[in-house]
Amino acid sequence: MDDDATTARQAFAGGGPGAGGSLQAGAGSGAVAGFYRRMVEPLLRTDEGVDAEQLSRLTLMGLSQVSLRRDWPLVEGALAGLGAELQRRNPRLQQTLFGCRFANPVGLAAGFDKNGVAAAIWHCFGFGFAELGTITAQPQQGNPRPRLFRLAAERAALNRMGFNNLGAMAVRRILERQALPPSGQRSAVLGINLGKSREVSLELAPDDYASSLEVLAPLADYAVINVSSPNTPGLRELQQETQLRRLVERLRRLPGCPPLLVKIAPDLEDDAIDAIARLAYQEGLAGVIAVNTSQDRLGLADRTLGATGRPLAEESGGLSGRPLRHRALAVLRRLRAMAGPSLPLIGVGGIDSAESAWERISAGASLVQVYTGWIYEGPELVPDVLEGLITQLDRQGLATIGEAVGSGLPWRSTSVN
Ligand SMILES: Cc1cc2nc3c(=O)[nH]c(=O)nc-3n(C[C@H](O)[C@H](O)[C@H](O)COP(=O)(O)O)c2cc1C
Repeated sequence: MDDDATTARQAFAGGGPGAGGSLQAGAGSGAVAGFYRRMVEPLLRTDEGVDAEQLSRLTLMGLSQVSLRRDWPLVEGALAGLGAELQRRNPRLQQTLFGCRFANPVGLAAGFDKNGVAAAIWHCFGFGFAELGTITAQPQQGNPRPRLFRLAAERAALNRMGFNNLGAMAVRRILERQALPPSGQRSAVLGINLGKSREVSLELAPDDYASSLEVLAPLADYAVINVSSPNTPGLRELQQETQLRRLVERLRRLPGCPPLLVKIAPDLEDDAIDAIARLAYQEGLAGVIAVNTSQDRLGLADRTLGATGRPLAEESGGLSGRPLRHRALAVLRRLRAMAGPSLPLIGVGGIDSAESAWERISAGASLVQVYTGWIYEGPELVPDVLEGLITQLDRQGLATIGEAVGSGLPWRSTSVN
């Protein structure tokens, strides 16, 4: 690594010379990984202490400034250092799906960058794509705080954010201010995840989603119809076949409508998953994203949440992270079995390692997304997963990640020969 890049990494990480030097070799040996391990990870080891939402908010405030000033020499250098540490470019990981070229199959899931403030720099963290939102037509405050809880022992989280976001028009301005490269020329594909405004009835939902999409379509590589958050009353009823068909048909009529995907809940019955797979085929959807957070407590032991003093079992919200892995995989398998190989699927829920990413890809996901696992594991999760996928392709004797999608091949810890 050249001296500029070293300095830039240290500047970004806030570390002095040798920052991260005590870490083991591999993807986790850089300055950003070192900073995360020393400064952030200790805060994530307990459910108490620093408020989870506050931590995300501070991070995003910083990233927003970096994204806006990314052509300042010092910032540019820092981002180059970040990229050198976290990006893994390899043509074997590339895919083109629904007209978008993905440099690699790992994306940032919706909900972290709700207002798109760091849209221009997610590729520097190694992501092949990032999903911004959920965005609603009007600004929303979301539910009262506290509304995001760490469940550290299980590497999980409970949230009832309730679509807090600045609204479609403000997000459009935020994206415009970052002067993003045009669609097709971005280092990371950008998806825009849309939700129903809380005050709007289910009857009027199609017009509500349409007004958000009209505003944001020119900036989106793809759009997601989020009908699966557990934190907006009634929203998940839009997963029902007739309602969803009405919604999809309304959005598809919009001029310049980007490829449309639907994001579904993990708590659906098999019949409902089958109906969505059928509808996706009939309506020519670009893909399905499985899954959002769960209303089930997925076998988690009950405990009192320090922030509210109430038992977990009595708290509303959606569960994410490691306990979601098996249910998310089961939903994806069902979708794949019903829809066949031509419908692109995005797997999300409990992915926190190369092995869990491979499992989802092998079961039929063309792409995967991470959120909770990325927070617990830190930024080096992305290069760890990408390196692990390349090694796995070698061990399986496959040339490209596309060949692994839906292959059913189990994870191999040693080579074929
Ligand atoms: C704090 C938080 C906020 C989220 N907000 C959204 C959201 O606004 N829209 C959405 O579609 N999914 C949202 N999600 C769900 C994630 O995108 C993802 O589907 C889910 O967390 C499962 O993935 P994970 O186990 O990797 O976290 C949110 C998740 C968390 C933890």
